[in-house]
Amino acid sequence: MLPLERVVVYVARTSAQGAEVLEWTPPSPGPADLPTVSREVLIRPATLTDLPAVNKLRNHYIATSTAIYTDQPTPDEVFRCTFENRDTTRHPMTIAEIAGQFAGYGMLSKHDEKCGYAATVEDSVYVDPKFHRQGVGGAIMSDLIHRADAIGHRCILARIDTNQHPSLALHLRYGFTPVGILRSAGEKFGRVLDVALLQRVIFK
Ligand SMILES: CC(C)(COP(=O)(O)OP(=O)(O)OC[C@H]1O[C@@H](n2cnc3c(N)ncnc32)[C@H](O)[C@@H]1OP(=O)(O)O)[C@@H](O)C(=O)NCCC(=O)NCCS
Repeated sequence: MLPLERVVVYVARTSAQGAEVLEWTPPSPGPADLPTVSREVLIRPATLTDLPAVNKLRNHYIATSTAIYTDQPTPDEVFRCTFENRDTTRHPMTIAEIAGQFAGYGMLSKHDEKCGYAATVEDSVYVDPKFHRQGVGGAIMSDLIHRADAIGHRCILARIDTNQHPSLALHLRYGFTPVGILRSAGEKFGRVLDVALLQRVIFK
Protein backbone atom coordinates (compact mmCIF):
# COMPACT_ATOMS: atom_id res chain seq x y z
CA MET A 1 0.00 0.00 0.00
CA LEU A 2 1.26 3.43 -0.93
CA PRO A 3 0.38 6.61 0.90
CA LEU A 4 -1.33 9.02 -1.48
CA GLU A 5 1.66 11.37 -1.40
CA ARG A 6 3.75 8.64 -3.04
CA VAL A 7 0.99 7.91 -5.50
CA VAL A 8 0.94 11.58 -6.50
CA VAL A 9 4.70 11.49 -7.09
CA TYR A 10 4.17 8.38 -9.20
CA VAL A 11 1.63 10.26 -11.29
CA ALA A 12 3.96 13.20 -11.62
CA ARG A 13 6.58 10.94 -13.18
CA THR A 14 4.21 9.37 -15.66
CA SER A 15 2.09 12.29 -16.76
CA ALA A 16 2.86 15.47 -18.62
CA GLN A 17 0.57 17.18 -16.11
CA GLY A 18 2.73 16.03 -13.21
CA ALA A 19 3.78 19.47 -12.05
CA GLU A 20 0.17 20.58 -11.73
CA VAL A 21 -0.74 17.40 -9.93
CA LEU A 22 2.13 17.81 -7.49
CA GLU A 23 0.94 21.28 -6.59
CA TRP A 24 -2.57 19.87 -6.09
CA THR A 25 -3.99 22.67 -8.18
CA PRO A 26 -7.76 22.92 -7.61
CA PRO A 27 -9.69 22.00 -10.76
CA SER A 28 -11.58 24.59 -12.76
CA PRO A 29 -15.27 24.52 -11.88
CA GLY A 30 -16.61 23.50 -15.30
CA PRO A 31 -15.83 20.69 -17.74
CA ALA A 32 -14.32 23.01 -20.36
CA ASP A 33 -10.77 22.29 -19.24
CA LEU A 34 -10.91 18.52 -19.79
CA PRO A 35 -8.14 16.95 -21.87
CA THR A 36 -9.00 16.20 -25.47
CA VAL A 37 -9.67 12.51 -26.06
CA SER A 38 -9.47 10.27 -29.09
CA ARG A 39 -12.33 10.69 -31.56
CA GLU A 40 -12.20 6.99 -32.32
CA VAL A 41 -13.81 6.11 -28.99
CA LEU A 42 -17.60 6.19 -29.16
CA ILE A 43 -19.41 6.77 -25.86
CA ARG A 44 -23.13 6.06 -25.69
CA PRO A 45 -25.76 5.18 -23.07
CA ALA A 46 -25.91 1.49 -22.09
CA THR A 47 -28.82 -0.70 -23.17
CA LEU A 48 -30.01 -4.08 -21.90
CA THR A 49 -28.05 -5.88 -24.61
CA ASP A 50 -24.77 -4.41 -23.28
CA LEU A 51 -25.23 -5.83 -19.79
CA PRO A 52 -23.58 -9.26 -20.24
CA ALA A 53 -20.37 -7.63 -21.54
CA VAL A 54 -20.42 -5.00 -18.78
CA ASN A 55 -20.99 -7.59 -16.06
CA LYS A 56 -18.30 -9.87 -17.49
CA LEU A 57 -15.76 -7.04 -17.31
CA ARG A 58 -16.89 -6.05 -13.81
CA ASN A 59 -16.59 -9.68 -12.67
CA HIS A 60 -13.11 -9.83 -14.19
CA TYR A 61 -11.99 -6.97 -11.95
CA ILE A 62 -13.78 -8.51 -8.95
CA ALA A 63 -11.80 -11.72 -9.47
CA THR A 64 -8.42 -10.18 -10.23
CA SER A 65 -8.07 -6.81 -8.49
CA THR A 66 -8.78 -4.68 -5.45
CA ALA A 67 -10.71 -2.17 -7.58
CA ILE A 68 -14.02 -3.55 -6.19
CA TYR A 69 -14.13 -4.68 -2.56
CA THR A 70 -15.90 -7.99 -3.03
CA ASP A 71 -14.72 -11.38 -4.17
CA GLN A 72 -18.20 -12.55 -5.11
CA PRO A 73 -19.03 -12.34 -8.84
CA THR A 74 -22.42 -10.84 -9.67
CA PRO A 75 -24.76 -13.17 -11.62
CA ASP A 76 -26.03 -11.67 -14.90
CA GLU A 77 -29.67 -11.78 -13.71
CA VAL A 78 -28.84 -9.81 -10.56
CA PHE A 79 -26.84 -7.26 -12.55
CA ARG A 80 -29.68 -6.85 -15.02
CA CYS A 81 -32.17 -6.37 -12.18
CA THR A 82 -29.97 -3.64 -10.65
CA PHE A 83 -29.77 -1.90 -14.03
CA GLU A 84 -33.53 -2.08 -14.54
CA ASN A 85 -34.05 -0.42 -11.15
CA ARG A 86 -31.62 2.36 -11.99
CA ASP A 87 -32.85 5.87 -12.83
CA THR A 88 -30.52 6.29 -15.79
CA THR A 89 -31.66 9.87 -16.35
CA ARG A 90 -29.87 10.83 -13.12
CA HIS A 91 -27.49 7.91 -12.77
CA PRO A 92 -26.34 6.96 -16.26
CA MET A 93 -24.37 3.95 -17.38
CA THR A 94 -22.32 4.47 -20.53
CA ILE A 95 -20.57 2.18 -22.98
CA ALA A 96 -17.28 2.81 -24.78
CA GLU A 97 -16.81 1.25 -28.19
CA ILE A 98 -13.86 1.16 -30.53
CA ALA A 99 -14.75 0.16 -34.08
CA GLY A 100 -18.00 -1.36 -32.80
CA GLN A 101 -16.25 -3.45 -30.15
CA PHE A 102 -17.09 -3.16 -26.45
CA ALA A 103 -14.09 -1.51 -24.75
CA GLY A 104 -15.35 -0.43 -21.33
CA TYR A 105 -18.08 1.27 -19.37
CA GLY A 106 -18.74 4.09 -16.97
CA MET A 107 -21.35 4.92 -14.36
CA LEU A 108 -22.51 7.76 -12.17
CA SER A 109 -24.11 6.17 -9.11
CA LYS A 110 -26.01 7.43 -6.12
CA HIS A 111 -23.66 8.30 -3.26
CA ASP A 112 -26.25 8.19 -0.48
CA GLU A 113 -30.02 7.69 -0.25
CA LYS A 114 -30.57 10.84 1.83
CA CYS A 115 -32.11 13.68 -0.20
CA GLY A 116 -29.37 16.10 0.83
CA TYR A 117 -26.96 14.02 -1.25
CA ALA A 118 -29.17 13.95 -4.36
CA ALA A 119 -26.68 16.02 -6.39
CA THR A 120 -23.65 13.97 -5.30
CA VAL A 121 -22.62 10.92 -7.32
CA GLU A 122 -19.80 8.38 -7.33
CA ASP A 123 -18.15 7.47 -10.60
CA SER A 124 -16.99 4.11 -11.97
CA VAL A 125 -14.79 3.62 -15.01
CA TYR A 126 -13.75 0.14 -16.18
CA VAL A 127 -11.82 -0.59 -19.35
CA ASP A 128 -11.16 -3.96 -20.93
CA PRO A 129 -7.43 -4.70 -20.34
CA LYS A 130 -6.82 -5.15 -24.06
CA PHE A 131 -7.78 -1.49 -24.55
CA HIS A 132 -5.78 0.01 -21.67
CA ARG A 133 -3.74 3.15 -22.36
CA GLN A 134 -5.58 3.97 -25.58
CA GLY A 135 -7.65 6.85 -24.27
CA VAL A 136 -10.77 4.83 -23.49
CA GLY A 137 -10.84 5.53 -19.73
CA GLY A 138 -10.25 9.20 -20.41
CA ALA A 139 -13.07 9.30 -22.95
CA ILE A 140 -15.46 7.63 -20.51
CA MET A 141 -14.43 9.97 -17.69
CA SER A 142 -14.70 13.11 -19.81
CA ASP A 143 -18.17 12.08 -20.93
CA LEU A 144 -19.26 11.29 -17.35
CA ILE A 145 -18.16 14.75 -16.18
CA HIS A 146 -20.11 16.39 -19.00
CA ARG A 147 -23.16 14.27 -18.17
CA ALA A 148 -22.90 15.10 -14.46
CA ASP A 149 -22.80 18.79 -15.38
CA ALA A 150 -25.78 18.48 -17.75
CA ILE A 151 -27.85 16.52 -15.20
CA GLY A 152 -27.13 19.10 -12.50
CA HIS A 153 -24.96 17.02 -10.19
CA ARG A 154 -22.84 19.24 -8.00
CA CYS A 155 -20.06 16.91 -7.02
CA ILE A 156 -18.50 13.62 -8.13
CA LEU A 157 -16.82 11.49 -5.49
CA ALA A 158 -14.35 8.70 -6.08
CA ARG A 159 -13.31 6.12 -3.52
CA ILE A 160 -10.24 4.37 -4.88
CA ASP A 161 -8.15 1.60 -3.38
CA THR A 162 -4.67 3.09 -2.95
CA ASN A 163 -3.13 0.19 -4.89
CA GLN A 164 -5.06 1.18 -8.02
CA HIS A 165 -2.47 3.57 -9.45
CA PRO A 166 -4.00 3.85 -12.97
CA SER A 167 -7.35 4.79 -11.46
CA LEU A 168 -5.77 7.38 -9.16
CA ALA A 169 -3.84 8.79 -12.12
CA LEU A 170 -6.96 8.93 -14.27
CA HIS A 171 -8.92 10.84 -11.64
CA LEU A 172 -6.11 13.32 -10.99
CA ARG A 173 -5.72 13.84 -14.74
CA TYR A 174 -9.42 14.72 -14.97
CA GLY A 175 -9.38 17.33 -12.27
CA PHE A 176 -10.27 15.36 -9.15
CA THR A 177 -8.75 16.67 -5.95
CA PRO A 178 -7.48 14.31 -3.24
CA VAL A 179 -9.51 14.79 -0.08
CA GLY A 180 -7.82 12.25 2.16
CA ILE A 181 -7.22 8.60 2.85
CA LEU A 182 -9.56 6.30 4.73
CA ARG A 183 -7.05 4.09 6.52
CA SER A 184 -7.79 0.37 6.91
CA ALA A 185 -11.27 0.95 5.51
CA GLY A 186 -11.56 -2.26 3.50
CA GLU A 187 -10.13 -5.71 2.99
CA LYS A 188 -9.72 -8.18 0.17
CA PHE A 189 -7.52 -11.16 -0.63
CA GLY A 190 -6.58 -11.33 3.08
CA ARG A 191 -5.16 -7.79 3.10
CA VAL A 192 -6.38 -4.70 4.91
CA LEU A 193 -6.70 -1.82 2.42
CA ASP A 194 -6.64 1.96 2.43
CA VAL A 195 -9.09 3.96 0.33
CA ALA A 196 -8.26 7.33 -1.23
CA LEU A 197 -11.16 9.76 -1.33
CA LEU A 198 -11.14 12.22 -4.23
CA GLN A 199 -13.72 14.67 -5.51
CA ARG A 200 -14.46 16.86 -8.48
CA VAL A 201 -16.78 19.75 -7.70
CA ILE A 202 -18.84 20.61 -10.79
CA PHE A 203 -20.39 23.78 -9.30
CA LYS A 204 -20.72 25.30 -5.84
C1 LIG B 1 -8.17 3.16 -14.63
C2 LIG B 1 -8.55 2.75 -16.05
C3 LIG B 1 -10.05 2.92 -16.21
C4 LIG B 1 -7.81 3.66 -17.06
O1 LIG B 1 -8.29 3.38 -18.36
P1 LIG B 1 -7.39 3.61 -19.68
O2 LIG B 1 -8.28 3.47 -20.84
O3 LIG B 1 -6.18 2.75 -19.64
O4 LIG B 1 -6.95 5.14 -19.46
P2 LIG B 1 -6.51 6.17 -20.61
O5 LIG B 1 -5.63 5.53 -21.61
O6 LIG B 1 -7.71 6.88 -21.14
O7 LIG B 1 -5.66 7.21 -19.75
C5 LIG B 1 -6.25 8.42 -19.23
C6 LIG B 1 -5.33 8.97 -18.16
O8 LIG B 1 -5.31 8.07 -17.03
C7 LIG B 1 -3.99 7.99 -16.50
N1 LIG B 1 -3.54 6.59 -16.58
C8 LIG B 1 -4.25 5.56 -17.04
N2 LIG B 1 -3.54 4.41 -16.90
C9 LIG B 1 -2.37 4.73 -16.33
C10 LIG B 1 -1.23 4.00 -15.93
N3 LIG B 1 -1.17 2.65 -16.09
N4 LIG B 1 -0.19 4.66 -15.37
C11 LIG B 1 -0.24 6.00 -15.21
N5 LIG B 1 -1.30 6.77 -15.59
C12 LIG B 1 -2.35 6.13 -16.12
C13 LIG B 1 -3.14 8.95 -17.28
O9 LIG B 1 -3.17 10.21 -16.63
C14 LIG B 1 -3.88 9.06 -18.60
O10 LIG B 1 -3.70 10.29 -19.21
P3 LIG B 1 -2.47 10.46 -20.26
O11 LIG B 1 -2.62 9.36 -21.26
O12 LIG B 1 -2.69 11.81 -20.83
O13 LIG B 1 -1.22 10.32 -19.46
C15 LIG B 1 -8.12 1.28 -16.37
O14 LIG B 1 -6.77 1.11 -16.02
C16 LIG B 1 -8.95 0.26 -15.64
O15 LIG B 1 -10.01 -0.16 -16.10
N6 LIG B 1 -8.44 -0.18 -14.45
C17 LIG B 1 -9.06 -1.21 -13.65
C18 LIG B 1 -10.40 -0.81 -13.07
C19 LIG B 1 -10.33 0.41 -12.21
O16 LIG B 1 -9.51 0.54 -11.32
N7 LIG B 1 -11.27 1.31 -12.48
C20 LIG B 1 -11.43 2.52 -11.73
C21 LIG B 1 -12.46 2.31 -10.69
S1 LIG B 1 -13.49 3.75 -10.57
